Amino acid sequence: MGTRPKEINGFIFACTNSTQNECFERLLFGNAKPNGAVAIRVKQGDFLFLLNLEADLLYGIFRATTEGKLNIVPEAWSGNYPYQVRVEPIGKIVPLLNAKRLLKEMGLSRNSIMGKNATQKLADYFKTENSLDSWKTVSEESSNEIEIAKPREWSHFGKAKDVSTDVEEMPILQATTMWDFPRQSYGKTPKGNNKYAGVTPAELIWNLVWRYTEPNDLVVDPMCGSGTTIDVCNEEKRRVIGYDISPTRPDIIKSDARKLPLPDDTKAKLVFIDSPYGDNIKYNNEPANIGNISSENELFYDELKKVMDESFRILDYGGVIGWLIGDQWVKKKFTPVGFKIYQKLLEAGFETLDIICINRRGQYSHTAPWFNRTRRFNFYLRGFKYLFIMRKPDGHVKKEMEERKVSWAYYERNKDGKNKRKDN
Ligand SMILES: C[S@@+](CC[C@H](N)C(=O)[O-])C[C@H]1O[C@@H](n2cnc3c(N)ncnc32)[C@H](O)[C@@H]1O
Repeated sequence: MGTRPKEINGFIFACTNSTQNECFERLLFGNAKPNGAVAIRVKQGDFLFLLNLEADLLYGIFRATTEGKLNIVPEAWSGNYPYQVRVEPIGKIVPLLNAKRLLKEMGLSRNSIMGKNATQKLADYFKTENSLDSWKTVSEESSNEIEIAKPREWSHFGKAKDVSTDVEEMPILQATTMWDFPRQSYGKTPKGNNKYAGVTPAELIWNLVWRYTEPNDLVVDPMCGSGTTIDVCNEEKRRVIGYDISPTRPDIIKSDARKLPLPDDTKAKLVFIDSPYGDNIKYNNEPANIGNISSENELFYDELKKVMDESFRILDYGGVIGWLIGDQWVKKKFTPVGFKIYQKLLEAGFETLDIICINRRGQYSHTAPWFNRTRRFNFYLRGFKYLFIMRKPDGHVKKEMEERKVSWAYYERNKDGKNKRKDN
């Protein structure tokens, strides 16, 4: 008897007419990085489906024979879909027509993880005389010879039942420099503690993790508060170390972020820091808590510069730091905390990859009485934070930047208000 994981999930991988054959020949499905987080969640024994986006066909049913991993076959699809899983067909492969409509009606997508009910419901559409009962152990009878059955029109099977509650939506990679996360966390398990004052939105960290690291890379959070970075990294299969001056849970190591107990050759790929923004939040009674120092005091920036130097030291060349910080306006005095921190990051030797604007949600002051006060007394509440994304320079990358040449495409606005590319 093969060992079956307790909880079976279902996943939809995608292909096109030109990539489909390689999926079948290699018995391998693959995702590019934007859906990498979905692929690495596949466990051996999970049920998989293959959506041909161009032909609008959904092939099934397959079973994962490995867990989802990076580069099982590095050369497959010329390296374009490196988050991969090995599969075997369960009985005949049946293609369903009008697949996109079916998936839409069921509330399923490539970015979702189907629980047992949703998987069973989708699997039901593929049942043929010689397909097996999907929930029994599939072994001898499952054929490695791929025989594609006649396409089936799913609408013969009646209307899809609502299984959307049995689906877990994954976060997406942000496309612009304006990020807004309505909830602190995502998924079925909590990330950090949403009651912790100053807790970071988990999706923000998820975005940095997927943009700048690969599974098994090392991520360090020197001021990790309630442990959001640790929880995100554990789920995304990154190695992670979290420190705080006042640990809130056993997997956080007590340390001063100005002096981390890590050797020079640590080679972290990502450091994430959501530092205190001044003394606006009382985190703890530790004398070394930098959150005891006002952001109106230069000492605050000098102490955080030490944290930046430590981060620089433990990062690999080309490694990335994400630093989240907000400005301060208190008692009629504005302090550009963000600009000052950015200046210090440059002084520490980091080069800028980008600056992101984070919508500041969940503020106690974001209520009607405060909004009225801003108008009567002519000031503003803080509406955003900065996320500075910087890199420890890497000689090779720098050369590439110097050699690059930019050629802009120019657009002119038509009478109908649409943009039209202008060829010069
Ligand atoms: C904004 S909170 C971090 C929130 C965290 N990212 C989360 O999601 O829960 C800032 C943290 O910095 C920590 N801190 C302040 N001074 C520190 C120091 N010298 N070394 C390490 N951590 C420090 C505080 O204890 C606090 O937990």
